[in-house]
Amino acid sequence: MSNNSAESLLILAKLAQENAYAPYSKFKVGAAIMSEDGQQFSGCNVENAAFPSGQCAEAGAIAAMVSQGARKIKEILILGPSNKICPPCGGCRQKMQEFATPDTKVYLSNSDGEITELTMSELMPLAFDLDPSE
Ligand code: THU
Repeated sequence: MSNNSAESLLILAKLAQENAYAPYSKFKVGAAIMSEDGQQFSGCNVENAAFPSGQCAEAGAIAAMVSQGARKIKEILILGPSNKICPPCGGCRQKMQEFATPDTKVYLSNSDGEITELTMSELMPLAFDLDPSE
């Protein structure tokens, strides 16, 4: 366990992961976010019989954050179902990038509760970004 906030995000992600709806892949994922203003949010993957309509855990957590008015991810933890870490898919990296800074902490966790810590810029170098205020 690397630090206190990672620990509380892991607990939150685990609760969300238990509720994941993944009857097709059987691959349950949980995600939890600490926003810059100190709020915490979580999400799980929600699959669909029409496969492309499924949604990743990170997308759910980001939607929960945005719907409560928060806009900056300070830390995000992603929890996979096996003893391997679950690095976010390409689409989720881009969704995270929209609300992250290069220094946003990304915690990748596995079913043993081990955590690999990196930054957003390490996870996604050369990220595509636009400044929405310009
Ligand atoms: N999944 C996530 O929730 N997040 C990721 O970053 C990778 C994949 C989900 C999507 C699908 O429900 C299942 O894991 C298998 O791909």
